[in-house]
Amino acid sequence: MPIRSEKPNSIQSSEGGPSSSDHSQNLQIADRFLQEYSSDNAVRKYSRSTAGAGIEYLLENDYGAIYKSVFDRYVPEAVKKTGLNLLEFGCGAGMNLIYLVTLLDKMGIRVGHAVGTDFSETLIATANLEAESYLPPDLRSKVKFCVARNESLIDDLHGQLGIGKEELRGSFHLVIGVNTIRYSHRLGNVRECVQDIYCLLSGGCACVVIDMNKGFPFFRSRVRDRLNKSAEERYLPSLDEYASPFVDAGFEVVRKSHFSWVPHSASPRLLKVIRAFTPVLDKVAPTHAMRCLVVSRKPALSVL
Ligand SMILES: C[S@@+](CC[C@H](N)C(=O)[O-])C[C@H]1O[C@@H](n2cnc3c(N)ncnc32)[C@H](O)[C@@H]1O
Repeated sequence: MPIRSEKPNSIQSSEGGPSSSDHSQNLQIADRFLQEYSSDNAVRKYSRSTAGAGIEYLLENDYGAIYKSVFDRYVPEAVKKTGLNLLEFGCGAGMNLIYLVTLLDKMGIRVGHAVGTDFSETLIATANLEAESYLPPDLRSKVKFCVARNESLIDDLHGQLGIGKEELRGSFHLVIGVNTIRYSHRLGNVRECVQDIYCLLSGGCACVVIDMNKGFPFFRSRVRDRLNKSAEERYLPSLDEYASPFVDAGFEVVRKSHFSWVPHSASPRLLKVIRAFTPVLDKVAPTHAMRCLVVSRKPALSVL
């Protein structure tokens, strides 16, 4: 009996490209993802006031520390004065982007403009409302959320913002994607996503990708998904697989690790317990932490 790999077809057969049946299957899967992220449940899960104590903690601590170290190392000093342009792809209701804009401001780093993209119109509309509630007018005016797919970022940003594609190239100083790039792996279009990120970034600047670690044994969603999702729809890349499209696109992967044990939706009580156990867990089972991190830098002297 043949052994079936869980890897999506379009990844397995990358040399010849996906067949037309893979293509129509992927379109159906993408539609199901979009439905999931257009629901009231998604709005609750990804809006700051209803998301849970876990995400507040992560933004201030685990994610915040990563973002700060990336500002320090990969944002040129001149840009910190003239204005840093930030892109978050697959931003959902914008929790990371809104947090980052506030953090940059607190750190005295000038924000040029910050753009959040997502394919869910519902979440983009929610992100705009969240920005109204959480950002003071001077920062709000620098933030735009727009509908764009991870696999066609340049085309969609051009269409939505009315900025020329040539002008978009090299115009961002930091790109982040949190819990979204696994969908591009599942649909077999991660290369398109990463190539566009490469073109959008200015030389010497970095992209931060954070996503689920397949080695974390306790994801409740994995148990639930086994019951009602195909192997393609619930596929999780390994840390090396998260990093590999960045290497292929010409990035230098400068940081690659497993980290953090805190679920986004953790209650204050669960958060307290996890924080107490984190030092031990980090010591005994570091590769089983909840998330993967890949930080990739575009070489300073690179052809766009
Ligand atoms: C798990 S949520 C994470 C949202 C947000 N980054 C956060 O951390 O709060 C995954 C996000 O990826 C978006 N997404 C999935 N596939 C996408 C695609 N092909 N293009 C754009 N966005 C996509 C979903 O709409 C959803 O907002």
